[in-house]
Formats: sequence, C-alpha cells, structure tokens
Amino acid sequence: MTSEPLILGFETSCDETGVAVVRGMTVLGNVLATQVDEHARFGGVVPEVAARAHVEAIRSLAHRVLRDAGVHPMDLDAVAATRGPGLAGALMVGFSYGKALAWALDVPFVGVDHMEGHLFAPRFEHPGYEPPAVVLLASGGHSQIVHLRGWGDYEMLGSTIDDAAGEAFDKIARFLGLGFPGGPAIDREGASGNPASIAFPRALPDRPMDFSFSGLKTAVTTYVRAHHEAGDLLPMADIAASIQEAIVDALVTKTMNAVTATGVPAVAGGGGVLANRRLRRRLAEECARVGVALYLPSPVLCTDNGAMIAAAAAFRLSRGEVTPLDSEVESSMRLGG
Ligand code: KG4
Ligand code: ZN
Repeated sequence: MTSEPLILGFETSCDETGVAVVRGMTVLGNVLATQVDEHARFGGVVPEVAARAHVEAIRSLAHRVLRDAGVHPMDLDAVAATRGPGLAGALMVGFSYGKALAWALDVPFVGVDHMEGHLFAPRFEHPGYEPPAVVLLASGGHSQIVHLRGWGDYEMLGSTIDDAAGEAFDKIARFLGLGFPGGPAIDREGASGNPASIAFPRALPDRPMDFSFSGLKTAVTTYVRAHHEAGDLLPMADIAASIQEAIVDALVTKTMNAVTATGVPAVAGGGGVLANRRLRRRLAEECARVGVALYLPSPVLCTDNGAMIAAAAAFRLSRGEVTPLDSEVESSMRLGG
C-alpha cells in the first residue's frame, strides 16, 4: 500500500449528489448526479425534493464510481461525507450513508466542512498550490474571501452581507426568465453582449473585502420594468453581460484588495461561480498584472463534487481526526469555527 489513503467521498449538501474515489491528489473516479431538472420548474432548490433525489441516486453512484475506478470497497482506507453547511435533509443522506458504509467496512469515517472541500479542490490540478493564499469561494450559498494561512488555518477576510454571488445570478436570471441555474444562463446569454452597456451598481465600496448583491437585484428589476413600461426593446445579451460584469467586478476587486491586505503570493478559487468564464478571465488578468499565481480548478471541480470532500478528509485523517459515528450533520457549520 502507498502512504496515501484511498478515500471514498460523498457530497450531498445541496442539489448535486457527488461521489468520488481519491488517492492523494489523484482522482480515480468522480461521478455526479445533478438534480437541476427536478428543481428548474420551481426556479430554485426545494429541500425536500433534494433529499429524496439524493436517496434515489447515492447507492448506484457509489457502486458505479468504485466499479469504474476498479476499486473494491474492501480496499478503501476511509469514507468521507460533507457534514455541513447545507440543507439538513440533503446533508443527512450522504452523511448517514457514509457513516453506515464506514461502519460496515470497519474503516474511519471523516465528516468534512463543505467549504474546506472547496479550499482543497485546486490541489488536484495545481501541485504548486500551497498556503499562504487568498481564496475566493463563491457559490449558490456562499461568497467568502478566505486567507489560507496554512492547511486547517483559515481566516475569514470578508463575506456577503446579504445574497451570495450564485444566489444573485440565480434570482436575477429567474426574474429575467433565463432559467435555472442562473449563473450558466447569464454566462451564456451575456457572451455576445456588451458588459459596459449598463452601469449597474457596485456595492460596499468602503468595505474592501465584503460583498452585497441584493442592491444589484433591485437595480436590475427597476431597470427592466422602466424600459418595459416605456416600450423599449430590451437587449437581453447586453443586460446579461452588464449584470455579470457587476458581479464579477465585485468578486475580482475585493479578492485583489485581499491580496494587497495580506501580501500573499497566490490566489485560488472554488464554488460554482468560479466556473464563470468572465470571472476566470478577469482573475487571470488581474493576477498576472500584480504578479501573483492563480490556481483555479477546472469547472467540474469548481462546482460541488465528492473529490474535494475526499481531499479535505485526507488532510483531516493525516492529523488523526476521525468523526465519531454518533455525530450529526451541522447545517450551519462555519469554516474554521
Ligand atoms: O458550488 P455550487 O455547485 O453549489 C453550492 O454550493 O451552491 O454552486 C452553484 C452556484 C449556482 O448559484 C450557479 O448559478 C452558480 O454556482 N454557477 C455559475 C456558473 N456555473 C454555476 N455562476 C456563474 N457562472 C457560471 N458559469
Ligand atoms: Zn459548494
């Protein structure tokens, strides 16, 4: 056996059932069952629907990932699952399944902080990614800037005071009738638009590392209603590009403020919003301009997945941290807290 443990990771905090088998920094298998279609008709994630869909998907996904990776369950060194934050009912599915499997296999179980998973995700593709770094975590539920001082040593530099960036994409796209999830929809729609055509507001200029996106939502509704009433033809590509620019601008500006404040040599990112093409390009430009390294996972590892949970679990396991089988999920878990 190599020194790196073979870990099966489950992620069920929201609307994707992710299962992966990982050894060290190598992803041997990574499968995902998305529930997007089941939630799309409601315009957002419905907790009960999410939990039920995880129950239906998890067993066959676990079997498939192990079979495709050529891994026998008895070879696993540990089982990991997201403990929080997330939807309690959804979390319980992966957490309970993971605990039961660990018990049956008689291997350690590790409950993982979902956001710590996102912090570890860039390591799979970027061996040079090491602390210290500033990490932008932006998803449907979170927008945070984290000072990665060391593995396991995280300082929260800033966060959102209202909506998360992904939530803003989702809510605004729903209002515009662009579909769910809103981030990819606005990313697509805005690709042919002019990002400078409408000057939507950039919030909290005097709080250099915090976000606020609820004012943008109001500005977009006001803009669209006024133009609709005036009978103007609405250039949807320009509107989408300008909304995206406002969100991306806030994320990039505040991340770079954090780089200046900490003096770190590297930036990394995680969470579904980091799949946004404009955001990736702008971060690359800014990091090149100030001479810091940028470590972004490929889009499939930006969004929720089981591999990042296994990676964070490997770190916890290396410190001898095992989660007792009578522990529960923590839906409002806070990174480092
Ligand atoms: O990390 P994630 O998969 O799940 C959560 O933990 O929330 O992130 C999902 C969020 C959604 O709000 C979705 O609209 C957003 O990520 N997202 C994007 C893109 N792809 C996904 N936002 C902007 N541009 C994208 N290309
Ligand atoms: Zn996430």
